[in-house]
Amino acid sequence: MRSAVPVHSTALEPGSFADFLMFLEVALSPLEIPGRADLAGKNVVVIDVLRATSTIVQAIASGCRRVIPMDGIAEARRQAAESAAESVLLAGEWNGVRPAGFDLGNSPREFTTAAVSGRTIVMATTNGTRALHRVRDAHRILAGCFRNLTATAAAVAAAGRDALIVCSGQAGTPSLEDIACAGALARRIQGLAGPGCLVGDPVIVAQCVLDAQPSILAILRGSSHGRDLSRLGFDADLELCAEADATEIVAEMRDGAVVRAMPGQP
Ligand code: MLT
Repeated sequence: MRSAVPVHSTALEPGSFADFLMFLEVALSPLEIPGRADLAGKNVVVIDVLRATSTIVQAIASGCRRVIPMDGIAEARRQAAESAAESVLLAGEWNGVRPAGFDLGNSPREFTTAAVSGRTIVMATTNGTRALHRVRDAHRILAGCFRNLTATAAAVAAAGRDALIVCSGQAGTPSLEDIACAGALARRIQGLAGPGCLVGDPVIVAQCVLDAQPSILAILRGSSHGRDLSRLGFDADLELCAEADATEIVAEMRDGAVVRAMPGQP
């Protein structure tokens, strides 16, 4: 049981605060990520629906060993060169496009079993892998998207620990698709955790964004990054990234790499 009462609690009737077990927050953009001390006790889910976390989850579903998220293209090239003995795949994008010399871009459709099974992938993207870096002091870090929504929600709810959902956004500004996914994830977590889960106002904002559109695909197609990706010829990626609960994979950071979490891991 907890004694502190969060300022923005909205899910319980007045007087029932003593029963709350976890506080769930959303950072609508990476600019809202709290400092190291505030992250230390929290489980954090990083979301980049279009497309980094959707692609990471797809890579793990296709049997890749691990994905090492990098803070930038130069760092990724350096890391890949240093890991040469292990024969890593270099993957990612800058402003939607595969950088010169990279083995793979950032389209989840490229991450097939034939391409990535058993491999280590070093990955750098404009926003998503950088957001994973920025939360590295959290208690536990998960990579979430629509495709592993319920599996991720179950892992967060089962832990019963304060949690923060981070929307990767676009160059520091909020993205429609990440906020909508945060709203959907928070709703699943609340449903699983029950009334002991308190939420802040940004969670409610995220759920309003989700509920304002008729479908997940409509949200992705209506977002500015979704429109950019369609123009670049990646419309099929939007359809793949819009599929809710396509996999039961929980993707988590361990020792600097995203791997498949084993059932029952804390
Ligand atoms: C990002 O990290 O900004 C995205 O994954 C960009 C993309 O869609 O490739």
